[in-house]
Amino acid sequence: MGPARAAPVIAIDGPSGTGKGTIARLVKRWLGWHLLDSGALYRVLGFAAERRGLDLDDEQAIAPLALALDVAFVEGEADTRVVLDGADATDAIRTEACGALASRVAAHPAVRAGLLERQRAFRLVPGLVADGRDMGTVVFPDAELKIFLTASAEERARRRHKQLIEKGLSVNLAQLLADITERDRRDTERAVSPLKPATDAVILDTTHSDISAVEDQVKRLVRERGLART
Ligand code: DC
Repeated sequence: MGPARAAPVIAIDGPSGTGKGTIARLVKRWLGWHLLDSGALYRVLGFAAERRGLDLDDEQAIAPLALALDVAFVEGEADTRVVLDGADATDAIRTEACGALASRVAAHPAVRAGLLERQRAFRLVPGLVADGRDMGTVVFPDAELKIFLTASAEERARRRHKQLIEKGLSVNLAQLLADITERDRRDTERAVSPLKPATDAVILDTTHSDISAVEDQVKRLVRERGLART
């Protein structure tokens, strides 16, 4: 017998606010595959680093924590609970502030290297849907399907604004747009694994599409690649 074939991967990359997380979860459920929310890993790391009082810009201080991080993803009915050091951190890591912490720690090459194997370990049969910024370029360059979702920064800020209002949080749209633009800049301009589509990625602009239209497009691509049974 030859070497076992690695489980198939569908990489879904792009900036936040494109519907990436929602689409990844829909596809995961539809196929019955595993899910890697790589942004959650960077968020947990930023959160844990700040809680320990580490300097987020100090690569040498953060990199060991990336390796030692005690984090578990527990699949629930509606979502995945994120457990850090034995305590539920799901809601704590979802804030805009934590997204910014994540983006800062994610800029360090040693941190990204430290999280690489942890991410690849999610690649299990029957398959993996991987959501992030560099899933198709760096973590799973041999993914069977690579999708890159984009949308204008204004539209992404509007979507995020609506989500936060629905959660009962008061937020300023202009401030959100400024935060999103700053996070995009940091993620796109960093030297290692910057946010960019893989050369073989299918780019879908969701600015004028609702989530069900994007879902249909993605499902069509999954079928075309022979990755779905239905
Ligand atoms: O997808 P998200 O908003 O949860 O990601 C939070 C931050 O983590 C994002 O601004 C950059 C970083 N990140 C990354 O650098 N690489 C990934 N694969 C996923 C996230």
